[in-house]
Amino acid sequence: KVPVWLDCDPGHDDAFALLLAAHHPRVNLLGVSTVFGNAPLSKTTLNAGALLTAIGKHDEIPLHVGAAKPLERPAHHPATEIHGESGLDGTELLPKPARAPSDVPAVEAMVKALKAQPPNTAWIVATGSLTNVGQLFRAHPELASHVKGVSLMGGSIGNGFTDAPMGEVDGKPRIGNYTPWAEFNVLIDPEAASEIFSNEALKGKISVVPLDLSHQVLATDDVRQLLLCGRDGTKRDDGKGKTVLRQMLVELLYFFAQTYATTFGITAGPPLHDPLAVALALSGTPDGIPFYDWDEKKSAHPRHEERFGVTVVTEGTLEDAASGKTQTGRTVAKVLPPGSAGVRIPRGCDTQKFWDVIEECIERADAL
Ligand code: BDR
Ligand code: CA
Repeated sequence: KVPVWLDCDPGHDDAFALLLAAHHPRVNLLGVSTVFGNAPLSKTTLNAGALLTAIGKHDEIPLHVGAAKPLERPAHHPATEIHGESGLDGTELLPKPARAPSDVPAVEAMVKALKAQPPNTAWIVATGSLTNVGQLFRAHPELASHVKGVSLMGGSIGNGFTDAPMGEVDGKPRIGNYTPWAEFNVLIDPEAASEIFSNEALKGKISVVPLDLSHQVLATDDVRQLLLCGRDGTKRDDGKGKTVLRQMLVELLYFFAQTYATTFGITAGPPLHDPLAVALALSGTPDGIPFYDWDEKKSAHPRHEERFGVTVVTEGTLEDAASGKTQTGRTVAKVLPPGSAGVRIPRGCDTQKFWDVIEECIERADAL
């Protein structure tokens, strides 16, 4: 099994990252930590506790509280327009957390759990702001050579990196989601993101799911039916799930679909960003979801495993970034010569397999 620490800010899509990390048969989920982001820290922590309870893992998987604000800046406002006031709006079926979070702070717990694993085996998966992970490597730089990798959902490449629908700004294809240039997780703590990408000891160990990839994995009506009814369930029109868990998860997806349609005009279904970062950490395992590290359009052969140098724009305020005056929070990725130790940024993945794996995880959670 792959040892994984999940750092998250639930969040509708973070909920599915938790499900995947907690119920994938190849994952040994060491612990979960929370960070501010989609909602303030108290709410993302409450949501994580509720989700662990809903999927039957509250006794097994420790929950630790992380940062309430970015490394250097005042906090960005939460993503209420996408995730609602609670950070997880859209369902009444979420249980109360059956267990309180641990008193041990996130960074302390991460260090202990990661160091207890053999060198070069454990992954950190980050699906919120990169603040906790930034703090971790500031306080314990030696961990960078100890972990196998960091897989994060964050950033956006743009300029035709993939054909994913990402909307337009002033008639031009947009790059970011929260500003014309920046993706939310990187935007809300650009210094933390920048420190991670420029960490020499993490060279060759970072994998990234940018919007260009996550916007290919849309929770369409068909996907919602699959998750609601199970693989061999009959299609239903009344919105009732085969189980309470299924119904709750699909209600979350339905809310997420509506906010994506209203805010970004994406009507085919909301992109399920965060669980892809979990899947990417597992992509080397025998039954991992395949990711494609090449541009199918450029040449079929040879299929170079592209690697990138990534920098983050950190100059400027978030207010100026919001109006498009500065590019604060933008991730700039330059392709490196073949064979270089750079950042892995796949251009595609096996979407059908991804949804099947998510569905199997729900089945496992329901069987507990
Ligand atoms: C990221 O921002 C959050 O709203 C989502 O949970 C995801 O982690 C997408 O930009
Ligand atoms: Ca998130």
